[in-house]
Amino acid sequence: MTTPMTVTFTGGRTGDWGVTGIAAIAGPALPPVDRLSISDEADPLAGVWALTGTVSNVRYANRAEVGALRARQAGLDRPEATRAALIPIRKSEAWWALAQDERRDILEEQSRHTAIGLDYLPQIARRLHHSRDLGEPFDFLTWFEFAPEHEAAFEQLLERLRATPEWTYVEREVDIRLERT
Ligand code: HEM
Repeated sequence: MTTPMTVTFTGGRTGDWGVTGIAAIAGPALPPVDRLSISDEADPLAGVWALTGTVSNVRYANRAEVGALRARQAGLDRPEATRAALIPIRKSEAWWALAQDERRDILEEQSRHTAIGLDYLPQIARRLHHSRDLGEPFDFLTWFEFAPEHEAAFEQLLERLRATPEWTYVEREVDIRLERT
């Protein structure tokens, strides 16, 4: 399947993914739901909540980083990747008031976001969706898929990223865990 540009994650009673937990890391959580569906068409009647984002071009990664990511990353939908996480994130006004080069400096030179992330490839597959320009409650919908044996590594990745200067700009973060059932 080709990658859809616009993706809607709908929390409700249907979908391929069973929700195993919803944790508020910063700011308010999302209402509890049993299942999550992922679609390139929003169904306004389905679900308790729906979050939409677009798969876009990179903003900050440089040539070497793009090359390293492409060489290591795995695609979504691997049969063994039966666990997933949807982590919607909103950053503060202070972040958005910065210039692009200042944001890059915080994300990579200060926080090593990509360098840290590369340690977990290809076990963790990922896709980033941008929501800010759609007027959505979150700026980003981050999506990760992995095999059960790599869940501990995923927790370690989160711990490392959440301790970085970049995360001081995160004002809302919800950690939704899923199982393909
Ligand atoms: C952005 C890599 C894990 C949240 C990025 C970017 C890269 C990247 C290269 C920059 C994209 C660009 O240039 O526009 C990775 C890798 C990971 C990983 C290799 C390993 C699995 C995570 C995790 C989270 C996360 C676990 C959330 C808890 C984000 C967010 C952005 C982002 C919110 C957008 C930042 C912004 O534009 O301000 N990631 N990441 N990433 N990542 Fe990660």
